[in-house]
Amino acid sequence: MLIGPPGSGRRLYGVADVSEDVRQRVLRDYERFADGGSPANLEDYLVEEYGLDVAAEYAGLRLKNPWGKASGQLSMNLNQVREDIEAGLGFIVLKTVIAEDESGGQSMQAWAIKEARMDVEPITAPFGDAGWTITWKGRGWWQTFDAYLELLQQARELAAGTGTLIVPSVKYHLPGPNEDTWRVDEYRYTTQRLLEAWNRNAAASPMPIEKDFSPTLAGSDRSAAKARILEWLREIPRLIRRAADEVNSQVLVGQKIFNAMFDDEFQLEILRVLHTAAGEARSDFFIFANRLFNPQREFDGVRGVAYGGPELSDRNLRILRALEALTHETGWQPLPWSATGDIHSGRLAREYALRGASSFQLHTFFQLSAACYRMKQGSRTQRALHELYFHPTDGYVLWKLAGS
Ligand SMILES: Cc1cc2nc3c(=O)[nH]c(=O)nc-3n(C[C@H](O)[C@H](O)[C@H](O)COP(=O)(O)O)c2cc1C
Repeated sequence: MLIGPPGSGRRLYGVADVSEDVRQRVLRDYERFADGGSPANLEDYLVEEYGLDVAAEYAGLRLKNPWGKASGQLSMNLNQVREDIEAGLGFIVLKTVIAEDESGGQSMQAWAIKEARMDVEPITAPFGDAGWTITWKGRGWWQTFDAYLELLQQARELAAGTGTLIVPSVKYHLPGPNEDTWRVDEYRYTTQRLLEAWNRNAAASPMPIEKDFSPTLAGSDRSAAKARILEWLREIPRLIRRAADEVNSQVLVGQKIFNAMFDDEFQLEILRVLHTAAGEARSDFFIFANRLFNPQREFDGVRGVAYGGPELSDRNLRILRALEALTHETGWQPLPWSATGDIHSGRLAREYALRGASSFQLHTFFQLSAACYRMKQGSRTQRALHELYFHPTDGYVLWKLAGS
């Protein structure tokens, strides 16, 4: 069942309710920073100029701002990480690594595929809104696990003292419909090696970790049964935590929820399970929600592709609105969560924030062609941030100040 009609997810239409003076200042900043570059310390600038504090949270950890790079092709190597730290992102989620056991065995190896081609394409939702999606057929990390560990360690070193949080992402074993056992060894080995890399040459602190359920999982036999998916959600935090406990380390477990091939009610059921799980089975946070999946579309010889754009944000926002109501009704203790899905403007980010998101992670908007950003200098991330903050009608500064 649908929770609301398609196209009903958003609330923020029209113009942000701010004074004419603020509107003019945002317009001025949009224009002058496009040509001269944004101030080096944007957080300080926003406080001084607009009285706007953009400090945020991820997994309950403080962030200097809410903007993050979502896991994917744009957080695969140290140069990308360096550029994003310099651009001032609040956090960077590294590409998803495929878990392995001590002998190198990977039950989810089907996800360790290298991409051959990536197309950034316009997309229009059935209800008429237009946006962007990226089509490709690659999946998770395809290099060695050691190379990933090195990336994590070096990224941590680069980020030290900058205020940018680095987060690893993992696709661990998930038992399919005919499997009775969990590959606990994959959980143990992968988590412990990640912790080793996390703690090497760095001040001890809990390691946030995203457990990735990729959208292509929706098209796999593994996720054909609802009960199985709900069981995953309860078991995963326990397995990751136990692995960390064995080496006296602390993890903050976040589950990155995918859009399963079932209806909205089931998507809400996923959130219900996350919120009602207790003790070891409870996640520390979650990420909502990864892309949609089209089982019919073919790309580069592969049938079934993940996609994003307005249909994705619409579905996510519809479901999150229902979660908000349910949390009210039940008095659940809300879990912290990070938003993902079609965040291409400050206005859209604000839509997620109004439903409780404490940070925003983007992929597609950081990958558009240069023509899509008004700023003509600096890295893609700097140009995107300029757009996100200062766009004269859709910018975060306007919508955050409007408070709506
Ligand atoms: C090319 C591409 C690769 C991605 N790879 C991963 C991945 O390895 N792990 C993951 O958790 N999400 C992955 N994602 C999902 C993104 O992290 C993000 O959650 C999703 O695309 C929705 O955000 P967006 O609409 O801003 O792109 C990928 C997305 C794209 C487009």
